[in-house]
Amino acid sequence: MDDRTAPETLDLSTPNVARMYDYYLGGKDNFAADRDAAEKALEFAPQIRIAAQHNRAFMGRAVRYLAEAGVRQFLDIGTGLPTQSNVHEVAGEAAPDARVVYVDNDPVVLAHGRAILGGTENVHIVQADLRRPEEILECHEVRERLDFDRPLAILLVAIVHFLQDADDPESIVARFRAALPAGGHLVLSHVCGEALPESVPGVTEVYKHSSTPIVARDPERIKDFFGDLELVEPGVVNVAQWRPDTPETKRIADKYRRPYFLAGVARKN
Ligand SMILES: C[S@@+](CC[C@H](N)C(=O)[O-])C[C@H]1O[C@@H](n2cnc3c(N)ncnc32)[C@H](O)[C@@H]1O
Repeated sequence: MDDRTAPETLDLSTPNVARMYDYYLGGKDNFAADRDAAEKALEFAPQIRIAAQHNRAFMGRAVRYLAEAGVRQFLDIGTGLPTQSNVHEVAGEAAPDARVVYVDNDPVVLAHGRAILGGTENVHIVQADLRRPEEILECHEVRERLDFDRPLAILLVAIVHFLQDADDPESIVARFRAALPAGGHLVLSHVCGEALPESVPGVTEVYKHSSTPIVARDPERIKDFFGDLELVEPGVVNVAQWRPDTPETKRIADKYRRPYFLAGVARKN
């Protein structure tokens, strides 16, 4: 995007994590400060771009898997800017009656989302913050559209690493696990940084100057976010290793064995 045509209310000088992610994905909804920060992060860890793309692809495969398994309700928290293969599109292909509620705390994401999704039946977007789970779980707009007594998937894809340790991410994710009905699923991915440990301080520093600092966590802590839910095969793995469905994804899964993004899908019995 051209900085000169942006609305005046937008803060263009602070790199924004949703727009940086859009840049990694090859999108156009980003400004100079976002691109500069993203390029700095890429200098420390060039594979962020491919990791972001495969994180997005993981989300698509997970949603398709769940829709084919009969899940018809999706609560996607940390939606990001609309791009290709949005949750409602993937779910809708497998199950046209699927209902999706998107949640994000970034007004820019909300504005883009509303513009693109306006008028789309079965899809709704809500502004709320993951750090306040009750704000999401008790929200009238969420409760009106999703029935928490029927199979439902909660997506926390590439968002929990934006919770600081002081936010107590374990308690926050546990609150969402507790809200799942039997037969409900948690889909979660998280930056791990095990692939390039030497890049973590540099990337962390870049994000300290963005809209939301990032926290890479170790595999054990990421696995613990699934609590006592039953992990769907193949468990918590590098994003590309989660049920790869194309030769290219399989190639990446073999090439990058150490995870930059860990991900999994788990079911509440
Ligand atoms: C990297 S994007 C992920 C987009 C999508 N889930 C994916 O994986 O392709 C992270 C999103 O989380 C949102 N986000 C970050 N912290 C949040 C919070 N505390 N509450 C709600 N949304 C948040 C950001 O605005 C951004 O849109």
